[in-house]
Amino acid sequence: MSANPPRLLATMAAHLPVPRLPVLLFVFLAVHVHVPASHAIPPSLPTIYDGSICSESFRCGGVSISYPFYLTDYGYNYSCGYTDLKIFCQGEGPTGIPVISLGGENYAVQKIFYDTHTIILADSDVFVGGSCPAVSHNVTFDETWLHNTSSNANLTFFFGCHLGDSMTLEFDAYKIKCANFKSPPHAGPGDSFVVMTDEHDRYLEQELARNCSMIVTVPVNHDVLMAASNQQNFRSGGYGDVLRHGFGLEWERATAVGCHQCEESNGRCAYSQHSEFLGCLCHGGKVGNPDCEHIVPATASTATASRKSS
Ligand SMILES: *[C@@H]1O[C@H](CO)[C@@H](O)[C@H](O)[C@H]1NC(C)=O
Ligand SMILES: *[C@@H]1O[C@H](CO)[C@@H](O)[C@H](O)[C@H]1NC(C)=O
Ligand SMILES: *[C@@H]1O[C@H](CO)[C@@H](O)[C@H](O)[C@H]1NC(C)=O
Ligand SMILES: *[C@@H]1O[C@H](CO)[C@@H](O)[C@H](O)[C@H]1NC(C)=O
Ligand SMILES: *[C@@H]1O[C@H](CO)[C@@H](O)[C@H](O)[C@H]1NC(C)=O
Repeated sequence: MSANPPRLLATMAAHLPVPRLPVLLFVFLAVHVHVPASHAIPPSLPTIYDGSICSESFRCGGVSISYPFYLTDYGYNYSCGYTDLKIFCQGEGPTGIPVISLGGENYAVQKIFYDTHTIILADSDVFVGGSCPAVSHNVTFDETWLHNTSSNANLTFFFGCHLGDSMTLEFDAYKIKCANFKSPPHAGPGDSFVVMTDEHDRYLEQELARNCSMIVTVPVNHDVLMAASNQQNFRSGGYGDVLRHGFGLEWERATAVGCHQCEESNGRCAYSQHSEFLGCLCHGGKVGNPDCEHIVPATASTATASRKSS
């Protein structure tokens, strides 16, 4: 999934405007004369950019992707969109699957609602393992950009469980009953249970927590869970449908002050990989700072760099 570095460098070089050569020279010199760190140039945008990275929208499978989401495959060290809302399109044409990585784990993007700022995601793990998939990690994400929605409920899995013989009957109703069920590799042998998290089940959850080797809690859609949990087959496959249905996350608009100004002026915020707001990508390949009312002159950064290096 990760881009091949030589190809990436080649792509970057191909897109590097020729007048930026003095900047590269300056960086080269700076490294060799040991300029103190405090004088290091902060990460910056070029003064012009390839406007196609900010095009109105991309299609990946059935999902239309547009700002503040962005595609990964351009190879620049800045985004036209919010750092964490980076989408990788797996496959092509109608079968393409948009994938987002949160906390180092991959999720399929099922829908994006731009009006309510909500995305519907499903853990990529739940599409394997037939009707009885296993989740192997909690859902974690950086709250700078994303938030749980109120339509989510918690579903908790207990794997690698060894309960006392006298207890098995009491807990039987919560046991996953699929002939071909495979618990996650890290869980070790033992029974598996799935429990809807609510107050009444405190005792149950505590006992399971004491006697199982692995606990995973994931968000699912509350209404979908309620409907499915009433069905006979909930623990023999119904829960898998609930997982595949996905969960919602909301994204926050313009967390950085400069980014807010940028968007107000119809620009799009550029961020570094480290979530720093870098400037405003404006119409016609021009860069503004902080907004499109303040366009950075096309030669400014190279001029500054050559002055410093002489
Ligand atoms: C991107 O790379 C260029 C040149 O390699 C550098 O001048 C610039 O500061 C970098 N920008 C970011 C945001 O890291
Ligand atoms: C999931 O989070 C809970 C606490 O919130 C923790 O006890 C559990 O170990 C985590 N599971 C995994 C697989 O990291
Ligand atoms: C789900 O669990 C988390 C902690 O693991 C908690 O903060 C959150 O409020 C729970 N959500 C619901 C809907 O109960
Ligand atoms: C969990 O293990 C403890 C001993 O480690 C045992 O006393 C308890 O009955 C077990 N709980 C269940 C539900 O089997
Ligand atoms: C979001 O909710 C899920 C479960 O509903 C929970 O496991 C997770 O910890 C929550 N994440 C945050 C960042 O609150």
